[in-house]
Amino acid sequence: MNLYRQLALLYLALSISVGVQATEQDPVEDLLRQMTLEEKIDQLSQLGVQITPTGPVINNGQLPPASINTVGSVLGAYGAEQTRQLQEQAVTQSRLHIPLLFAYDVIHGFRTIFPVPLAEAAAWDTDLAYRTARAAAIEATASGVHWTFAPMVDIARDPRWGRVVEGAGEDPFLGAAMAEAKVRGFHGAGPSDNSSMLATAKHFVTYGAAEGGRDYNGADLSERTLREVYLPPFRAAVAAGVDGIMPSFNELAGIPLHSHKALLTGVLRDEWRFDGLIVSDYNAIWELNQHGIIAVPADAARLAFTAGVDIEMASQTYRQYLPSLVRASQVSLATVDEAVRRVLKAKQRLGLFADPYRYSDEARQRANLLTPQHRALAREAAQKSIVLLKNTDALLPLPKSLRKVLVVGSLATDAESTLGPWPGVGLAADSITVLQGIRSAVDPDTEVIYLPGTAPNSEQIEDLRSIRQAARSAQVVVAVLGESANQSGEARSRTHLGLPGAQDALLRELLATGKPVVIVLMNGRPLVLSDTVAQAPALLETWFLGSETGHAVADILFGDVNPSGKLPITFARNVGQIPLYYAYKNTGRPPSGEGLYTSTYIDSPWTALYPFGFGLSYTTFSYATPHLSADRIASTDTLTVQVNVTNTGQRAGDEIVQLYLRDDVASVTRPVRQLRGFRKVHLAPGETRTVSFTLDAQDFALLDEHWRPMVEAGRFSVFVGADSTTDNQARFEVTDSRVLSGAGPSGRP
Ligand code: GLC
Repeated sequence: MNLYRQLALLYLALSISVGVQATEQDPVEDLLRQMTLEEKIDQLSQLGVQITPTGPVINNGQLPPASINTVGSVLGAYGAEQTRQLQEQAVTQSRLHIPLLFAYDVIHGFRTIFPVPLAEAAAWDTDLAYRTARAAAIEATASGVHWTFAPMVDIARDPRWGRVVEGAGEDPFLGAAMAEAKVRGFHGAGPSDNSSMLATAKHFVTYGAAEGGRDYNGADLSERTLREVYLPPFRAAVAAGVDGIMPSFNELAGIPLHSHKALLTGVLRDEWRFDGLIVSDYNAIWELNQHGIIAVPADAARLAFTAGVDIEMASQTYRQYLPSLVRASQVSLATVDEAVRRVLKAKQRLGLFADPYRYSDEARQRANLLTPQHRALAREAAQKSIVLLKNTDALLPLPKSLRKVLVVGSLATDAESTLGPWPGVGLAADSITVLQGIRSAVDPDTEVIYLPGTAPNSEQIEDLRSIRQAARSAQVVVAVLGESANQSGEARSRTHLGLPGAQDALLRELLATGKPVVIVLMNGRPLVLSDTVAQAPALLETWFLGSETGHAVADILFGDVNPSGKLPITFARNVGQIPLYYAYKNTGRPPSGEGLYTSTYIDSPWTALYPFGFGLSYTTFSYATPHLSADRIASTDTLTVQVNVTNTGQRAGDEIVQLYLRDDVASVTRPVRQLRGFRKVHLAPGETRTVSFTLDAQDFALLDEHWRPMVEAGRFSVFVGADSTTDNQARFEVTDSRVLSGAGPSGRP
C-alpha cells in the first residue's frame, strides 16, 4: 500500500475517532444513532391533545393515550400538573425517554389577554409588542408550554379575510418591525431562562392574499409582490432567530405551500439559511389530496417532506408512509435525520434532556398568571391600541360628572368578545367589559343606563321604546357596535363589511333621538362604515382589546388617557374598492389626476375612508417641512431627515410620526410611497421636538431582476407626517446605483 493511501486511511481513522468522541458527548447525535426509523419519524409527528377530567384525548379520540409516548410534540396541552403527567408518561414509557415539546397557540396572551395583534399594531410600538409577548411567554411557560405558534406575520390587504385580525396589517415595514419584536419577546433572555418559549412565524406565505378574501383560497401574485410585500416580515422573524415557520393552507400560483419546495427549501433554507423547524398547519399535509396533486396517499407525505416540512401536525401521513418511502429510497434517510436533529436540538436548547419537567412548575404557575402587573400591561396595551377616528366639536373626552349616560349594544357586556379570536386560556370572567369600565370610571352619582338593543348576530332591535325613553333623559349615548369575536378570525371571511345585523338600524334610532352619540367599535377588521355611522360625532376604533377592555375604553372616553393609536390597515369606503392600500401604484392615469379618464370609479371616491397611519388625538400636532442632511448622496451614504413636530393643542399627547419614501423614477414601477420609519413622541402643550430619522441604502432599495436588493441612482421623495396621505415632503437624489448584500426592501435585517 503506497504511502499516500496509508496517510489517507490514518486521517480517516483519526477523523472518525474524533467524530465519535464528539457525538458521544452530544445527546442528540447519540440518540440519533440509537433511534429506529419509526422512532425518528415519530419525532416528526405532532398530535392534538385535549386535557379532560377523564384524562387526555388524543387527536379528537382517534388515537389511544399511549400514542403520545413517542411523538416529538403535542398541541393543546397546558397546565403545570397536566404537562408534568403527560411528560412523565412519555419519558418513562418510551424506549429512549425522549421528552415531549408542548405547543399552544399563544397569539395575544395566555391567561392575561392582550389586544389582538391588529389592534396592537395600531400602537406602532415595538417595545410594547415585545413586552406583551414577554408577559404571554412568562404565563404560558409557567403552565408547561414550550412552543407557541406565533407571531402570525401575514400581510393582509383584504378585510374580507377574517384572519386579518391576527396580523399587523397591510404594510411590510410595520409588519417586519412587529414580527421582530414578538420573536424577541417570546424568547426573552433565551433558553437559559425557563420563561423563554419557542416562537413560530406563520403562515408562510401569501395566506393573506387569498382571492376574494375567502379563507384558504389560492393566491396568485408576482414574484416581485411576493418578495417585496409578503416575505419581508418572515425575513425579519428569521433574522430575529424565530424557531419555527408554519406554511399556509393556500396554494400560490398552482403550488400548495405545504409542497412548495422553491419557497420552503429554496428561500427559507438556501437563501435565508433558516435552520429551525418547519411545522405543517393542521391537517394541511393530508389536504394536499384536496388540492388535487396527490395520486396515491403516500404522495402527500413524500411531497411535503421533500419540499421541506419537518413536522406533520394532526394528520398522520408521515407516520403512515415515511418509513416505507425511506425504505424504498423515495425519501432520503439523511433528510429524515436532519429534520429529527432539528427537533431534538430544540428540546436540547430548552434544557428538556437535562430536566423534562423544567417548565411544569405548579408554584411558578400560581405566581405568574393574571398578575396585577400583567393586567396593568394589558390596560396600557389596550389604551395605546385605540384609534380615535372622529371627534366632532371635541365631544370627547366626556366629563365623568355626566348626570346620565345611556350605553347601548350587546357588545358592551360581551366579555367573550373582548378576548377576540385565539384567546389562549383567557376567561371571559376575567375580562372587564365596556359597560363595567364605564360604570367604574364615572362619578358615583352619574347614572349609567344599559340597554342591549341588538347583537351583531341578530336581525332584531329589542325594546326600542325603552331605548328612546332612556335616550331622552341621557346627556350622551355610547353605542358599542361591531363584530362579535366569532365573526372574526379563521374561517370567518365576510362579503359584507358593514356593521352586522341590525346595528346600523339601531344607530339610526339613536341618532334620531338628537342626543350626541359616541360610537365605540369592537371589531377584528376594517369595517365599511355606513353613512349612518358618518353622522355620529365621535368614533373610536377599539378592536378586541383583551382582559382590560373596559378600563382602557373608559380611560380614553373620559380622558384619563389621550388616544394615540394609528391605523395599521386602510379602511375602505366600500367593499368594491378592495384591495385598497396606501402603497398603491400610480398607473399611467393616476387616480389623483383630473378628468374622467383616470384610474377612479364613477360611483364612489377612489380614496380610503380612513387611510393607513390615520388616528386623531385630544390635542393637535403640526409638522414643519422635513430638513435633509443633503440633497444629493452616494448610495453608500446615509441620509438624516429631521422634522420639527409641535403640540399645538391644550393637552399633552403622543404622536406617531411616520416617514414614507418614494423612488420617483426607477427601472420598475414603484409604490407612490412606502413606510420607512416611525417614531412615537410625547409632547407637552406647545412643545416642539425635532424628530430625526436616518435612512440608508436598504431603505432606498428595490429588487433587481435577480431579486437582489439594489439602489438605483435617481430622485427620491421623502414624506413625514401624521399618516400615509401627508404631502409634507422634501426631495433628494442618489448619485449612483449599487447592488447590496442582505435582505432588501423593508426586510430590514
Ligand atoms: C389552525 C391555524 C394555525 C394554528 C393551528 C394550530 O388551523 O391555521 O394558525 O396555529 O391550526 O392550532
